[in-house]
Amino acid sequence: MTKRVAFVTGAMGGLGTAICQSLAQAGHKVVAAYHPQFDEKDVWLQEQEAAGFKDFIMVSGDVADLASVEAMVAEAEQKAGPIDILVNNAGITRDKMFAKMDRGQWDAVIDTNLNSVFNLTKQVSAKMAERGWGRIINISSVNGVKGQAGQTNYSAAKAGMIGFTKALAQELAAKGVTVNAIAPGYVATKMVMAIREDILQGIVDSVPMKRLAKPEEIGFAVTFLADELSGFTTGATLNVNGGLYFQ
Ligand code: CAA
Ligand code: NAP
Repeated sequence: MTKRVAFVTGAMGGLGTAICQSLAQAGHKVVAAYHPQFDEKDVWLQEQEAAGFKDFIMVSGDVADLASVEAMVAEAEQKAGPIDILVNNAGITRDKMFAKMDRGQWDAVIDTNLNSVFNLTKQVSAKMAERGWGRIINISSVNGVKGQAGQTNYSAAKAGMIGFTKALAQELAAKGVTVNAIAPGYVATKMVMAIREDILQGIVDSVPMKRLAKPEEIGFAVTFLADELSGFTTGATLNVNGGLYFQ
């Protein structure tokens, strides 16, 4: 298969790690982008090497900050070459019922989860179009599709990613660049383990498959959309949610 350069944000989180591993297993060269304040990067790298993933290229930057992203992508291109596959995965939650949500909690989620998609995609999409090949994969959420009480900020950002995906897919369809979203259900990562135990149990009970997703089940979905044979799939939102919700 053709070896491509993939750039994954939030690479050291639960989903990011699985996405990096899946793309590497598919033969791609992977740039793992992490938050500058993440102080366990050496531990993460050692764990990856111990698991057989020895070739990750590391760059750091704040996805919510355009200047930081410009510098980070330039460093990645210098180290790895032009980026063929962009995975917009970094994200946060600041869950509160809307009545109690303050503007800081709203802004933090919109900046990190949605404005980041502008910041990253802006660096790579025109160059992908010039080269005639690209894959942009946005990690949205089931809660962007169905809405979730306590997550007006997050649901707005994740739904925004889907609208962005559909619009940019049309702009780039004739240029060999596909733009797709994945809407995972609840996955066993740090983000979900932060939910109060009784609430989380209620969520799991409501999933027809009665379990959380494994991170590698999302990693596989990314690798599928990045494949050469996914070249006719664009503007799609792939639900990977154990039957929790259908569009
Ligand atoms: N729908 C409607 N009303 C609800 C509700 C629901 N699902 N859940 C709670 N409420 C109501 C309660 O009845 C309560 O009403 P009263 O004040 O009239 O009694 C009020 O909202 C406050 O509820 P809580 O006691 O739960 O409020 P809290 O401040 O303790 O907690 C919360 C609020 C943090 C948002 C909490 O409800 C929560 O964690 N909910 C889960 C949110 C969620 O699913 N987050 C996903 C995070 S992981 C992720 O985002 C990954 C992904 O993409 C899937
Ligand atoms: P996670 O383990 O908390 O990972 C999130 C990653 O994003 C972390 O590595 C975090 O770095 C990074 N990040 C946060 N803010 C950043 C910033 N400003 N700049 C750069 N990196 C930043 O969560 P996850 O579950 O893997 O989530 C990954 C993505 O999947 C998110 O977009 C999330 O919304 C989405 N998602 C998750 C689920 C789920 O159930 N877990 C479901 C649907 C969608 P630090 O830890 O250093 O801050």
